[in-house]
Amino acid sequence: MRKIVIFFVVIIFTSLYSMHARAEEGYFFTSGEKIYNRYCSPCHGIKGDGKGFNAKNLDPRPANHTNIELMNRRTDKELYDAISRGGRFVGKSTLMPPWGETLNKPQIESLVLYLRKLCTCRGL
Ligand code: HEC
Repeated sequence: MRKIVIFFVVIIFTSLYSMHARAEEGYFFTSGEKIYNRYCSPCHGIKGDGKGFNAKNLDPRPANHTNIELMNRRTDKELYDAISRGGRFVGKSTLMPPWGETLNKPQIESLVLYLRKLCTCRGL
């Protein structure tokens, strides 16, 4: 009996652990904020104001996602395309990398939602 209990405890812990690991990769939950902080904040800044530690090396500077005026002129699709296919695809700087190979669709969609939260705007 004890062996059976231990067996189940081990199964439960390993499956919880793998769920956690996969959640981190964004399979179960996609948190735009987490992805943003990991991949985007070095340039765009943790607050999204375009002042990441890498920003001073870039010309043009990374976009300020808290700029309501700028962000309100963008559709969600334009933001999606800029993230997925990079700055060049939307007529912007090539210093904005394309993320379509690194991040999947739900992850990029969650980033667009997070950008809308940062700018407190809805766009076109
Ligand atoms: C290596 C630095 C760098 C990283 C990392 C980076 N960006 Fe950018 N991003 C830029 C630069 C520079 C621009 C400005 C391009 C311009 O104005 O010509 C930009 C522009 C953008 C734009 C377009 C803004 C507009 O005016 O339409 C969006 C959207 C964007 N970034 C989102 C992201 C997201 C989301 C991530 C993380 C997945 C990210 N960026 C990671 C450098 C970066």
